[in-house]
Amino acid sequence: MSVAKKDYKRITTKTLIEMKDNGEKISMLTAYDYTMAKIVDSSGVDVILVGDSASNVMAGHETTLPITLDQMIYHASSVIRAVERALVVVDLPFGSYQSDPKEALRSAIRIMKESGGHAVKLEGGSEIKDSIKRILHAGIPVMGHLGLTPQSIYKFGTYTVRAKEEAEAEKLLEDAKMLERIGCFAIVLEKIPAALAERVAKSISIPVIGIGAGNGVDGQVLVLHDMIGMTHEFSPRFLRRYMNLYEEMTTAISQYVTDVKAVDFPNENEQY
Ligand code: KIV
Repeated sequence: MSVAKKDYKRITTKTLIEMKDNGEKISMLTAYDYTMAKIVDSSGVDVILVGDSASNVMAGHETTLPITLDQMIYHASSVIRAVERALVVVDLPFGSYQSDPKEALRSAIRIMKESGGHAVKLEGGSEIKDSIKRILHAGIPVMGHLGLTPQSIYKFGTYTVRAKEEAEAEKLLEDAKMLERIGCFAIVLEKIPAALAERVAKSISIPVIGIGAGNGVDGQVLVLHDMIGMTHEFSPRFLRRYMNLYEEMTTAISQYVTDVKAVDFPNENEQY
């Protein structure tokens, strides 16, 4: 299948909508630090998500709930210093936007001012409509996130596929249309049936980026550490591992340990 690909120097929210119009799929990956963000940006990824999955991947928490706004700002500002081309979207963490629209706006402004991120992402539909509108009115671009929204894991009780039942599927479709109507520039759909995700992507004009949502959408996102195989405990069906970095790194590090113990490292050329 031929891939339509224009050479964009800098990705903006407008570029993503143009990509959808032109049928060019959008690539998105997470990054949480300077070094990884530099590699991801140089590899041509369109959108870098400073996801609250940093709570799991970087801090080792079981869920995304514990990460704070200050920690998200720290991660996002490290990423921003590395990026020249990609659009950088930063997750608003749990507890920073749910209580009221003013708090949501304050949190979004902190992200934009203190990290230099280009847009924010919030989880949820009609329940947080007023907060999203408030942020948008301040001129801050918003990416929506529907389906399996990990900040609600204790409500769902499981990480299983969402919106398999008609009522939840219809609400998701209505929420997606509402997010488009109020001015979001894109939506992430996580772990929902592929047919529903395709239906949503065809029903709205803003890009729909899927994770575990099939290939009938406008782009794909994965957690970087999962796709390069640095993590290995987590193997959902939707994950394609492009490397087994966990194995490569443990092999290299074990070799280093062996070399140090055997006084093989450093050798004559590796000292002054
Ligand atoms: O936090 C994150 O990494 C995300 C992606 C899974 C979409 O929200």
